[in-house]
Amino acid sequence: MNVNDFKYIAQLLHDRSGLVLGEEKAYLLESRLNPVARKWEFKSLDEMITAMRAGGNEKLIVDVVEAMTTNESFFFRDQTPFKLFEDFVLPGLLESRASHRRIRIWSAACSSGQEPYTLAMLLKEHERELAGWNVEIIATDLSTEILKKAQDGIYSQFEVQRGLPITLLVKYFTQVGDKWKISDDLRKMVTYRVFNLLDGISALGKFDVVFCRNVLIYFDQATKSKVLSNIADIMAPDGVLYLGGAETVLGISDRLQLVEGQRGIYGLANATAKSNMVA
Ligand SMILES: C[S@@+](CC[C@H](N)C(=O)[O-])C[C@H]1O[C@@H](n2cnc3c(N)ncnc32)[C@H](O)[C@@H]1O
Repeated sequence: MNVNDFKYIAQLLHDRSGLVLGEEKAYLLESRLNPVARKWEFKSLDEMITAMRAGGNEKLIVDVVEAMTTNESFFFRDQTPFKLFEDFVLPGLLESRASHRRIRIWSAACSSGQEPYTLAMLLKEHERELAGWNVEIIATDLSTEILKKAQDGIYSQFEVQRGLPITLLVKYFTQVGDKWKISDDLRKMVTYRVFNLLDGISALGKFDVVFCRNVLIYFDQATKSKVLSNIADIMAPDGVLYLGGAETVLGISDRLQLVEGQRGIYGLANATAKSNMVA
């Protein structure tokens, strides 16, 4: 691929998804875009890029952007965040939301669904305490294709072996051929929607808990800052935000700050009620 084509694709990805594609990642373009070129029956990548530059084919551009996203995810990813959810965040919410019995959770950039389904499993494990509560899990991603997989809730042996305790596998999945299908009960607990983190967020409403993990790492500082500020806008005053292990708000947003003693969990800066929720 020539330099101009590389620059064109890198700019397109940045504009459409926030992804920063450094030149050292040029090899990724070939490996991820060749299958798209074949699907669209172009003779080569060059021919596909020429067609994209000519404009008028939005579906092709969407396919290219989606093909360049990294969808790596697994159940109970990094474990600690979910342990903290169960041990601190959920008990705090049960107390602070007791009067209206409503909890809203957003899994932003949910990929193939392991993150929202992990939360659904944890909530299901606490269904007695949550009886009569209205708990919503909204899970969003840029990619329509990956959301389809999330909605289907069907995972390979390899995928269920990564992080999912065997007791929960047996309890919430059924084997279908060589795959595992999540129970309808859990599937119904999650509402999936296509949503680009670069877009205006307010239509999603306010959230008590936001998981935005392992996506900011792909963005530049300005995009990270904009996304974090948008998230701060839709967090309840005492709401919490989970970031990935390699992500931080430090030096990027002064609207959010680490919840004391809770690694990877952030609250709104100066949120007076925050300590009510996180013990
Ligand atoms: C590495 S996965 C993270 C999945 C999950 N949060 C986790 O931690 O396991 C990153 C996801 O971010 C999505 N993504 C990338 N750019 C996005 C954007 N601008 N808006 C929404 N989702 C985006 C990708 O489609 C991909 O599914």
